Amino acid sequence: MISALTLDAVAYPTSSNKHIEVRKASMQDIPALLDLINGYAGKGIMLPRTEFELSENMRDFTVAYDGNRLAGCGALHFYSPTIGEVRSLAVAESHKTHGIGRLIVEALVYEAKMYGLDAAFAFTYVPGFFAKVGFNEVERGELPLKAWKDCLRCPKFNSCDEIAVLRVLRPQRWEQRQSLPPVLGVAGGMVVILPTVRN
Ligand SMILES: CC(C)(COP(=O)(O)OP(=O)(O)OC[C@H]1O[C@@H](n2cnc3c(N)ncnc32)[C@H](O)[C@@H]1OP(=O)(O)O)[C@@H](O)C(=O)NCCC(=O)NCCS
Repeated sequence: MISALTLDAVAYPTSSNKHIEVRKASMQDIPALLDLINGYAGKGIMLPRTEFELSENMRDFTVAYDGNRLAGCGALHFYSPTIGEVRSLAVAESHKTHGIGRLIVEALVYEAKMYGLDAAFAFTYVPGFFAKVGFNEVERGELPLKAWKDCLRCPKFNSCDEIAVLRVLRPQRWEQRQSLPPVLGVAGGMVVILPTVRN
C-alpha cells in the first residue's frame, strides 16, 4: 500500500556509509520540512511553502532521516492521469553529495510507477543533478498547463530561469501520447500567459 502512511521505513546505505531512512512523510514532519524548504526558499533556490500548503499536500511527500535529523525531502504531485511533478526536493546542506537526493528521487519515481504514471517532470536550477538521476531537458511547452500554477506567485515570474526536465517511465505509452495534438497555449478559450524565460 503506497498511498498510505507506512511505518515500514527502509534503511539505505549511502556513499558515506550512513544509514538513511526513507519513508512517506507524516504530519509530525511538518516543522522540520518547513525549516528545510524555507531555508532554501530564503536563498531564492526553492519556492517557499506554508504550514497550510504542506498539510494539504502531505501525502505527496517522502522524507529521508539520518537518525532524528531530517536529511532530505521531496514530493510527487499529480497533474493528470499520465504525468506528475517531482517538487520540493531538498537535501540538508550537511547531508549533500551522499546520494540522498538520488534516494529520494528514486523513491518518488517508484511511487510514480506504482500509480501508473507515464512520466515525471521537474522545474529546476540543477539540471546536472536531474541528468544524473535519469531526467532529460525538455521544452517547457511539453509540460501540462496546470504545472504552471505555482509560477503565478513566484518572484521570478518575469525572469524565469528554471529548466524543465522529464523522465519517461513508460516509453511506449509516452510515445503514443506525443503523437496527439498539443494541449498548451489556450485553455478554455483564454490565452494563458507563461513565465518569461530569462536569456
Ligand atoms: C540538488 C540536491 C537535491 C542534490 O542532492 P544530493 O543528495 O546532494 O545529490 P546526490 O548526492 O544524490 O547526487 C546524485 C548525483 O548527482 C550529482 N549532483 C549532485 N548535485 C549536483 C549539482 N548541483 N549539479 C550537478 N550534479 C549534481 C552528484 O555528483 C551525483 O552524481 P554521481 O551519481 O555521478 O556521483 C541538493 O543539492 C539540494 O537540496 N539543493 C538545494 C535545493 C535544490 O536545488 N533543490 C532542487 C529543486 S528542483
